[in-house]
Amino acid sequence: MSFRLQPAPVARPNRCQLFGPGSNPKLFEKMAASAADVVNLDLEDSVAPTDKDAARVNIIAAIDDVDWGNKVVSVRINSLDTPYWYRDVVDLLEQAGDRLDQIMVPKVGCGADIYAVDALVTAIETAKGRTKPVNLEVIIESAAGIAHVEEIAAASPRLVAMSLGAADFAASMGMQTTGIGGTQEDYYMLQDGARHWSDPWHWAQTAIVAACRTHGVLPVDGPFGDFSDDEGYRAQARRSAVLGMVGKWAIHPKQIALANEVFTPSDDKVAEAREILAAMEAAKASGEGATVYKGRLVDIASIKQAEVIVRQSEVIASNS
Ligand code: COA
Ligand code: MG
Repeated sequence: MSFRLQPAPVARPNRCQLFGPGSNPKLFEKMAASAADVVNLDLEDSVAPTDKDAARVNIIAAIDDVDWGNKVVSVRINSLDTPYWYRDVVDLLEQAGDRLDQIMVPKVGCGADIYAVDALVTAIETAKGRTKPVNLEVIIESAAGIAHVEEIAAASPRLVAMSLGAADFAASMGMQTTGIGGTQEDYYMLQDGARHWSDPWHWAQTAIVAACRTHGVLPVDGPFGDFSDDEGYRAQARRSAVLGMVGKWAIHPKQIALANEVFTPSDDKVAEAREILAAMEAAKASGEGATVYKGRLVDIASIKQAEVIVRQSEVIASNS
């Protein structure tokens, strides 16, 4: 292990990020009443160019007027290749109240993109005397984003979360699919004539998790487009959880319960993790570095694995 210890990410549940278009303010109260940990009010791709100004006004009013409870309130601004993003940041930081927790920057391509947003946010916060610093989160959804993922994860102390945006990512990579996440029919291995489907999102997810864990940022899985396919969503979310991601987006309310189910460690898993910790305590007390738990080896690394699960369940419990 390097002498530089892995920084801990922000200790808060981030199991589900629920999106809603800023141009559809009827949804805001429903988003606030939902069981999502994070709400993402969108100014970007779910809002038509002619609606951008109105969506900004809607969101700024709702940040103050709606009771968001203990949710993280995040606004997805437009990307830095558009004429909208600076106005998004200026109006939000100048006009929205302190209930604004976070700004999501989409289509990030390099660390300097985050530097630019951070510089603008910092200047406005200082000018306006805002006392609560706004956090940033980003979406990795381009070839440049994944190529520079570690530089992006390290780009600002404001950065708390990073999501994979499967649809834009697939387009930027030239992937032959119109699916938003999930199994892709043509991505399979052949074994004795039988097809076995592999996961084309896997490598990008692991690159994001590694960059995030190195720099104390929460790794999050993005959207799953087919909201009529609960099992497909669950399967994608379970793979993400196994790889180290802490949550997933919902683009329809029916996906919230699925995300919460998958990203809340089950009582059985937490009980087993605690048993492993207890077994290792007993082993250490008798001078052993390893022992046997239910017929399998557990050692000092097992303590850290078990602690991941226990810590996750404690973070969730502390916020509910
Ligand atoms: N947040 C909260 N509530 C939502 C919601 C959302 N994102 N999407 C739908 N609902 C509500 C509806 O208002 C409806 O409520 P009601 O029962 O009180 O009438 C209920 O959930 C069922 O909605 P449904 O009729 O199945 O969906 P829809 O046709 O109204 O909307 C979408 C479907 C996909 C257009 C809508 O879910 C949506 O806008 N999702 C977010 C898209 C987005 O933000 N994309 C950007 C990130 S990828
Ligand atoms: Mg996108």
